[in-house]
Amino acid sequence: MVTSNQAKIAVFVSGGGTNLQALIDAEKNGAIPSGKLSLVISNNPEAYALTRAELAGIPSVIISKKELLTQEAFEEKIHQTLVEYEIDMIVLAGFMSILSASFTSKYPKRIINVHPSLIPSFCGKGFYGLRVHKAALEYGVKVTGATVHYVNEIPDGGEIILQKSVSIKRNETPESLQQKVMRQAEWVILPKATEIVAAKILASRKVK
Ligand code: GAR
Repeated sequence: MVTSNQAKIAVFVSGGGTNLQALIDAEKNGAIPSGKLSLVISNNPEAYALTRAELAGIPSVIISKKELLTQEAFEEKIHQTLVEYEIDMIVLAGFMSILSASFTSKYPKRIINVHPSLIPSFCGKGFYGLRVHKAALEYGVKVTGATVHYVNEIPDGGEIILQKSVSIKRNETPESLQQKVMRQAEWVILPKATEIVAAKILASRKVK
């Protein structure tokens, strides 16, 4: 049940959805009292995240850029869907599509993203998924981690909300590092940041 003192949250996904699962589990455990997971949007019809949403009883909508052809039509469809579900806040949880400035400017301080590195390292255009961990290992950094930040018109460039570091051991592979960063950092800070932002949205409503 959504109560009037909860922000309605849409989670955008593209793949496995382990971060979505962390949000679902956190909500179940009472760790996101200010928000309600109300919608999942996937740009990939094959995403396992869609099964996770179904199992948790969260409605989901597939919006495919391939079918809609242009970025404009893709974002317009997303916007219409968010209006239909009366969404207050968006969480990008492994969403592998860049949103344009004209979309992000509609939701100032209402879109957050989880990125698998300590921003400003290994971020921006071209740095996503396993590529981020490959780049960190190639560079030879000894500490990496995850960041949750607000989303604005600059890819991975919005204000940082939370970060958590993870140490890199010898013989790490991109795959092992990805798992470690998810487990030790992403799944911990994403639910926390979601609650922080949802609480801020509720507080701003009370002021109005
Ligand atoms: C996560 O590691 C997330 O941080 C990353 O993709 C993975 C999605 O996993 N996102 C990015 O690289 C965005 N720049 P999930 O579908 O299991 O949550």
